[in-house]
Amino acid sequence: MDKPGQMQTVRFHSGESTPLEMHKVRVVQKLNLLPIEARVERIFGAGFNTFLLRNQDVFLDMLTDSGTNAMSDNQVAAMSVADDSYAGSASYYKLEAAIREVFNQQYFLPVHQGRAAEHIISQVFVRKGTVVPMNYHFTTTKAHIELAGGVIEEIYTDEALKTHSDFPFKGNMDVAKLNRTIEKWGAANVAYIRLEAGTNLIGGQPFSMQNLREVSAVAKANGILLLMDTSLINENLYFIKTREDGYQDKSIKDILHEMMSYTDFSYFSGRKVSCTRGGGICTNNHAIYMKMRDLVPLFEGFLTYGGMSVREIEAMAVGLYETLDFDVISHSPTFIKYLVDSLDRRGIPVITPAGGLGCHLDAGEFLRHVPQTQYPAGALAAALYVASGIRGMERGTISSVRDAAGNDVLADVELLRLAFPRRVFTLSQIKYAEDRIQWLHDNRQLVGGLEWTEEPPVLRFFVGKLKPIGDWVDRLAAKFRQDFGDSL
Ligand code: F0G
Repeated sequence: MDKPGQMQTVRFHSGESTPLEMHKVRVVQKLNLLPIEARVERIFGAGFNTFLLRNQDVFLDMLTDSGTNAMSDNQVAAMSVADDSYAGSASYYKLEAAIREVFNQQYFLPVHQGRAAEHIISQVFVRKGTVVPMNYHFTTTKAHIELAGGVIEEIYTDEALKTHSDFPFKGNMDVAKLNRTIEKWGAANVAYIRLEAGTNLIGGQPFSMQNLREVSAVAKANGILLLMDTSLINENLYFIKTREDGYQDKSIKDILHEMMSYTDFSYFSGRKVSCTRGGGICTNNHAIYMKMRDLVPLFEGFLTYGGMSVREIEAMAVGLYETLDFDVISHSPTFIKYLVDSLDRRGIPVITPAGGLGCHLDAGEFLRHVPQTQYPAGALAAALYVASGIRGMERGTISSVRDAAGNDVLADVELLRLAFPRRVFTLSQIKYAEDRIQWLHDNRQLVGGLEWTEEPPVLRFFVGKLKPIGDWVDRLAAKFRQDFGDSL
């Protein structure tokens, strides 16, 4: 566990800033790197949607950090002592104890993953005519709020959407805008205020404790509940400790408890925060707990498992304690910073400062010649798979939805997210990614746009299919062969 007063970083004699793994690898999985001709075939087969690639055809899977993190030896060991019982499982009570110690929250509702928590929270607190102000939306969050009849308002600061910035807390909520939103809607019509720690869709960017304190004061003054999405809390904790004045000497646990003290309730995706799967809702407010409690057996499973396997619950309890270890939570942000800073130095457009979750390429800038209506982030995702076997995730207009008139709603930013599953990749693999991104950037003029062949009406980015406009994929593959010879 981290010790107050120590940042526990290792300095290199060379002066180089090199991230260092504070663990060793004891179980490995073999990877495949297909030749480029096969990668071209696979991306056509997947309808130019990286979600539809098979993992056996992927070299570095940077699609997401969700459910793909490495577990510790202690987590794997805990799974073998799990107590299989429908009700009252001993495994559940270990998890409840972890929630109490780690989050300092008394009441817990287990669910099968983060969006299940969003479903229950939205069904209970959101109705037609209500609004949920938030620092930024996440896809499933917005979908569940809208399904319950509400709308969202994003209240980010002017810094948030600047792709190139050195602002340390781009996930902050703009407090003046929040006050105006509450005034416009009336406090009674605000279902709750939602703060997403480590704001996913704008590049894994954190908010500061100061901002959380201010938002909480506004919520309290107006009698509005404050909900925190703690799915990406690990990295937000890391950034508060390393970037915010007054927190360098505080333990991760103290920082987390202070954060929780400003919120009324919170939820998380265990696919991220505890390096497992599953999820849950936490609160210290008995009335809030009781409002949601009965929906858990209805939608998820009995209150002592909530749709999770008992093995998962055991691993989650251990994973939550490990969140308090600075070595554990610093691995991912230091590796992300390594790649982001290196690409930035080479003039490759990437979201700065480095956040948590992953490295986000600014596809709008990278492929300036591809109009936004031809989905530059989707095109870059496909092109990077062809160039390297690396699978990233489109986080741009394809991840958006059409308006009521059927027009594309162009995303604020066109991003290609290269997620860093926690403790999964080595530095040489990251250097490979760096090299192929550089090659793609040198050859970016060859990359063209995409158009739909099959477009589902809901969450279209998951299973929709597209095709390239023109023959750019073949030209890109030919250039690869010319430059790399017979290299994979
Ligand atoms: N909240 C945030 C901030 C998330 O990033 C996610 C999932 C969820 C909620 C939903 O949780 O997947 O367990 O149902 N993010 C994944 C991603 C899917 O790839 O970024 P879930």
